[in-house]
Amino acid sequence: MIGELWCWFFQFLCLNLQVDLRDKPALENVFAETKFDAVIHFAGLKAVGESMQKPLLYFNNNLIGTITLLEVMAAHGCKQLVFSSSATVYGWPKEVPCTEEFPLSAANPYGRTKLFIEEICRDIYSSDSEWKIILLRYFNPVGAHPSGYIGEDPRGIPNNLMPYVQQVAVGRRPHLTVFGTDYPTKDGTGVRDYIHVVDLADGHIAALRKLSEANIGCEVYNLGTGKGTSVLEMVAAFEKASGKKIPLVMADRRPGDAETVYAATEKAERELSWKANYGVDEMCRDQWKWASKNPYGYGSPDGTN
Ligand code: UD1
Repeated sequence: MIGELWCWFFQFLCLNLQVDLRDKPALENVFAETKFDAVIHFAGLKAVGESMQKPLLYFNNNLIGTITLLEVMAAHGCKQLVFSSSATVYGWPKEVPCTEEFPLSAANPYGRTKLFIEEICRDIYSSDSEWKIILLRYFNPVGAHPSGYIGEDPRGIPNNLMPYVQQVAVGRRPHLTVFGTDYPTKDGTGVRDYIHVVDLADGHIAALRKLSEANIGCEVYNLGTGKGTSVLEMVAAFEKASGKKIPLVMADRRPGDAETVYAATEKAERELSWKANYGVDEMCRDQWKWASKNPYGYGSPDGTN
């Protein structure tokens, strides 16, 4: 849901405007017509593999889009921002859970754009203390809106685990390839911190509330559950929720993958009064509801819309 859908355009939802963030005159018009208290900036390309093939596309879209947005916000006196960062800025963490104080690194151009934007935000706050900025480091968002009407619909072959599992369950792909079965984890497969998209959305509301406090500066919070779940555990949870068997093909590790990544959640709990409520069973239940109602996402089987 958060990701490709939002790649090129910043959606001014209430106004129903679609503007490329790099189009400064168009963005200027939006800010001239409406006074915004704060901006939640989700827009960005997010496919790791594509970023390695097309780094300039990623730097152009993610960095220039953000810089233009920040310039226009500043020019219009809107200096409150919530930005979608990512756990990717922890690189291959030496230990878990990942706390917000961990050293930062990037393993690919996509990750570097997140890291650079975080640094840009810290720099603009250092230069002008009127800014209030919250950087949210998402762990692995999955699931869908419980209504079954809003969900993730990646273009082409999904890069991420759960959209792929979903497409196997509805018969669009024959099997899931499990990348790596020899990690030093509970069952040999990679461990991640999956978070329900509804919890993630609530984390943004909590961040907006936090922006109303005085002197928050530029702060960073993990949005995760604090629990690690393996690939095989996620597959089992999805099979249980859907009643579908997911055929598996065991394969080598995917280059660049970390073995275990999960969040320390204390800072967000303490300072944002926010905590994830849903577990993997609810994530899979809601993702299956979306998938079973919309097996071809927002499109049709022949791909014509
Ligand atoms: C990936 C990105 C990360 C990005 C995040 C966005 C990589 C290397 N990392 O994280 O930078 O912020 O998506 O959500 O792409 N898996 C399979 N088979 C599959 C797909 C995935 O076994 O077909 C495994 C992976 O090896 C991993 C786990 O599932 O252990 C989760 O993978 P994925 O959903 O791609 O997320 P990340 O790799 O954590």
